[in-house]
Amino acid sequence: MYHNRDRLPLEANDLPEETEGRGETVRIYIMGKEYRVPAGLTIMKAMEYAGYRFIRGAGCRGGFCGACATVYRKEGDYKLYTDLACQKTVEDGMYLVQLPFVPANKAVYDIEELRPEPNILLRFYPEIARCVSCNTCTKACPQDIEVMYAIQHALRGEIERVANMTFDCIQCGLCTIRCPAEIPHYHVFQLARRIYGRYILKPARHVRERIKEIESGKYDQEMDKLLTVSVEELKRIYENRGRIEE
Ligand code: SF4
Ligand code: SF4
Ligand code: FES
Repeated sequence: MYHNRDRLPLEANDLPEETEGRGETVRIYIMGKEYRVPAGLTIMKAMEYAGYRFIRGAGCRGGFCGACATVYRKEGDYKLYTDLACQKTVEDGMYLVQLPFVPANKAVYDIEELRPEPNILLRFYPEIARCVSCNTCTKACPQDIEVMYAIQHALRGEIERVANMTFDCIQCGLCTIRCPAEIPHYHVFQLARRIYGRYILKPARHVRERIKEIESGKYDQEMDKLLTVSVEELKRIYENRGRIEE
């Protein structure tokens, strides 16, 4: 994120006429500097309105990618809040900080060489044993995941339970920056879901059948042909593809 100098920000005493004095703006602080922005904007839109441009820390803008982790305090309130900048709307007196990236330890592994053993999560992430059950991670999660319980299940080797509990994790890292035990929760959960998907979850019948067809070479000729056609031809094929009826 950086300030876009080509666009002049609207500062506290520089309001558009149509909004001034009607209670339709709120004060927010970005890097400690005060701006007035229209009420009802998301944090992300309010920051752009103030003249900032996101070059990191923004992706889907729809609450799915986890790129826009935000930490903030409110005037007169000791609590440190966490949320997603593309989802949370601005409140008067917010002091905002964007996190472009959360540096967290990520284990390197080849999923084909792993096995769904009960101690697998602990082996790659021994720091989960440091959990002191403070529940701070759960309170920080914008996806309402029971993060602390998921870590406890990970510690007990309950891979399937961890995978199912954390399906909605968007890897924002807000749990990790708040954890006193420095656990990279979202990497632990991702490993659990990968092991679950690779070794535990039984694919549905039609998926198994399609895999068999692919492995038998049924689509090889078609794939070879696709690799030789032009981009325009690919677009045409895509436009005319058959629809799957619901
Ligand atoms: S914040 Fe860390 S130490 Fe606290 S409950 Fe969550 S995982 Fe455990
Ligand atoms: S579990 Fe952690 S990384 Fe996943 S959505 Fe919640 S706070 Fe973000
Ligand atoms: S930009 Fe993707 S979750 Fe906010």
